[in-house]
Amino acid sequence: MGKFDLTGRKALVTGGARGLGAGMAEALADAGASVMIGDILPDAGQATANAIAGKGVKAGFVALDVTQESSWIKAVSETISELGGFDILINNAGVEITSLVIDVKAADLERMCAVNIVGAGLGMKHAFRAMKPGGAAGKGGAIVNISSVAANIALPGIAGYSGTKSAVDRMTRIAATESGKLGYGVRVNCIYPGLVPTEMGMQLASDFVKAGLFPSVEAAVGSVIEQTPLGRLGEVSDMADAVVFLCSNAARFITGVGLPVEGGMGT
Ligand SMILES: NC(=O)c1ccc[n+]([C@@H]2O[C@H](COP(=O)([O-])OP(=O)(O)OC[C@H]3O[C@@H](n4cnc5c(N)ncnc54)[C@H](O)[C@@H]3O)[C@@H](O)[C@H]2O)c1
Repeated sequence: MGKFDLTGRKALVTGGARGLGAGMAEALADAGASVMIGDILPDAGQATANAIAGKGVKAGFVALDVTQESSWIKAVSETISELGGFDILINNAGVEITSLVIDVKAADLERMCAVNIVGAGLGMKHAFRAMKPGGAAGKGGAIVNISSVAANIALPGIAGYSGTKSAVDRMTRIAATESGKLGYGVRVNCIYPGLVPTEMGMQLASDFVKAGLFPSVEAAVGSVIEQTPLGRLGEVSDMADAVVFLCSNAARFITGVGLPVEGGMGT
């Protein structure tokens, strides 16, 4: 695998129990990394970790609610003790609650801010503390934050979600600058996935219909495909491979960027 090889690297993937996070954890393991799954779903998280461990790599599950600082402190510490280090963080945990602006609920906006913004911010904080020279892991590393194509285009029905994903994009760039200037040795990038038919992706398509934006799920999905130059929905492996690249030595001079992985939809 050469420059894309992650042998010896130690990764924590938030929201890794299912969907994109599970695929990213598996791809990191396939590239040679050992992996901890951090999630609020213990059964699914443990099952995903067991499936990855079945391939012969070190993998485990740690309970992690990304909105809670105490949970981060425990999860990072467990990652270091279980894997023997910590040099990759994938800030993937996220929630999407569809609403037209005219119907938006404060509690929904607050929930998306808590998971998508506070979660990613606390993740970078505790990864920096652990990975920087003198930290509990101390060897530098790479962080990949999962933003969304929604940060770059104006899709009706997801104003709040898009705002939180734009925040992830902005935080990525500033964290990368701080890490570089202050010598943490941690590269920080994000990706903008296009629509992938995970649980979240399919819920979004049906919520578009409920909001009156499309007559059917097929029409909603068809519209996304029509806006995508490469002419299809995203697949979990499209996102997972991009994450492996950004964590690998092949991306050694790349920091503070957002990589669109959406078939050109945001172009
Ligand atoms: N699926 C898509 O079309 C799509 C497109 C662009 C971006 N994204 C982003 O990709 C990421 C993964 O999305 P997905 O489609 O796999 O969603 P999903 O709903 O299938 O999975 C999300 C995971 O995050 C976990 N999670 C939720 N809140 C958490 C919390 N407080 N602490 C820890 N874990 C928590 C869930 O338990 C779940 O395992 C999200 O950040 C999402 O916004 C998804």
